[in-house]
Amino acid sequence: MLDGRRILLIISGGIAAYKSLDLIRRLRERGAAVRPVMTAAAHQFVTPLSVASLCEDKVYGDLFSLTDESEMGHIRLSREADLVVVAPATADLIAQMAAGLAGDLAGAVLLASDKRVLIAPAMNAMMWAHPATQANLATLAARGVLRVGPNAGDLACGEVGAGRMAEPLEIVEAIERCLGGAGRLAGRRALVTSGPTREPIDPVRYLSNHSSGKQGHAIAAALAAFGAETILVSGPTHEPTPAGVKLVAVETASEMLAASEAALPVDVAVMAAAVSDWRVATVAPQKLKKDGKGAPALPLVENPDILATISRRRNDRPALVVGFAAETANVVANAQDKRLRKGCDWILANDVSPGTGTFGGDRNTIHLVDGAGVEDWPAMTKHEVAQRLAERIATALGPAAR
Ligand code: CTP
Repeated sequence: MLDGRRILLIISGGIAAYKSLDLIRRLRERGAAVRPVMTAAAHQFVTPLSVASLCEDKVYGDLFSLTDESEMGHIRLSREADLVVVAPATADLIAQMAAGLAGDLAGAVLLASDKRVLIAPAMNAMMWAHPATQANLATLAARGVLRVGPNAGDLACGEVGAGRMAEPLEIVEAIERCLGGAGRLAGRRALVTSGPTREPIDPVRYLSNHSSGKQGHAIAAALAAFGAETILVSGPTHEPTPAGVKLVAVETASEMLAASEAALPVDVAVMAAAVSDWRVATVAPQKLKKDGKGAPALPLVENPDILATISRRRNDRPALVVGFAAETANVVANAQDKRLRKGCDWILANDVSPGTGTFGGDRNTIHLVDGAGVEDWPAMTKHEVAQRLAERIATALGPAAR
């Protein structure tokens, strides 16, 4: 049920806009208040009269309307909602969002909003697959924008492929999931490690790995969206810092350990960083030069294990410590062994063999290993993994004591 929840629905100009009428009905049936914003192009597909009648509210659309602005300024419009839903989200509106353009009311509202945003893309399959659209979607996902669909099938343009807007009931379910999570971790503190570490060899060289930080950053974004005060300790990545998350940027494993310990006490710690297991024993103060005597030997020493260290803290061990296991063989068995060795509560095991595309990719297949057994999750995006993990964490921790 969505009783009393306020949804700001932005309808952009695509043929799928007709499904938004049904979406409004379904949301109203569930007790939600729906305030509609239509782009100029949306008027070509559905009439403002139908939208206004179904919403029992007026349609907003003009950034420069004196009446609209005096009744309800666009800033207030963007803030007086529990969730902003863009359905359909055309390729054009997605590009506008990614670029942060505020030339019309929809763009201005999206830019001024401090609420979560859920998009339901709808477009031609080629437009969907275009690298420009995919890059824009990646930008939005990294900022914590949630997405439902699109589905594959017959498209209005006569082609077949991915690009059909999710069905209204699927969008309703996604909305219920988004709103259900909000506040579930209010009053909780979370620590997340993410990205690779960089272990210097000399002033210009280092040892590192291919971790992109996508999974760790998505987890931090999800925990923050659930209301947890979230500290993200991350090695160097290209990922933007998710909204509402406090970033502590580090380079080496030792710095990551120090920053993680400094973040304690927390209720939950999720160690998603790909920490370098070793570092060079002695970092050369000057750049190593070829001296004609062959390659230098680089003796390595083991780095501290951050997950194991946090799991074994005596007085301030987090109530829940979650580790990852990046494995290339015997994934679950190795993860079970790793859970016991490191003393954490849960291990999310994933297969990172070459060919799975996990490292640096957008999808992950997870096996959650805890003291009771193994839960196999279907293949999903790293953002879906983050959402599901946040749900599991919220259930495990329960509501915070007041
Ligand atoms: N981890 C950590 N500190 C380290 C190494 C790993 O906190 N120095 C954490 C990772 O963030 C991850 C988990 O430990 O949550 C497992 O990482 P993984 O690389 O799979 O394990 P390893 O410790 O390297 O074990 P193995 O050598 O058996 O692969």
